[in-house]
Amino acid sequence: MEYSDKVMDHFSNPRNVGVIENASGEGTVGNPTCGDLMTIYIDVDDNEVIQDVKFKTFGCGAAIATSSMITEIANGKTVDEALEISRNDVAEALDGLPPVKMHCSNLAADALTEAIKDYKSKKDI
Ligand code: FES
Repeated sequence: MEYSDKVMDHFSNPRNVGVIENASGEGTVGNPTCGDLMTIYIDVDDNEVIQDVKFKTFGCGAAIATSSMITEIANGKTVDEALEISRNDVAEALDGLPPVKMHCSNLAADALTEAIKDYKSKKDI
């Protein structure tokens, strides 16, 4: 299977690359098989709405495309809505991923979930 135009677009021109200093939450996940690593940062306002999302990914092209796409999907959602974003949502938004690359979108969904958990745990303190 070929990569879709959307995957190629987000890979060549990724959105929201970078780091948020003093982020409301951040999450890092890695895949032990391929060694790829992804961190997602979120900024959340008083209404629990995600105001900014950034990512840093050391990984394959599909991992970069899925992180870029998930930042776009999550931005403007409440943290609870963002928790519902699945790897399939990300893959669908990219018009599909080859089956061997589905774990890459898993990484993006997991990193976002970790960032939200981090935000929630900080808030409880
Ligand atoms: Fe590991 Fe894509 S090959 S994240």
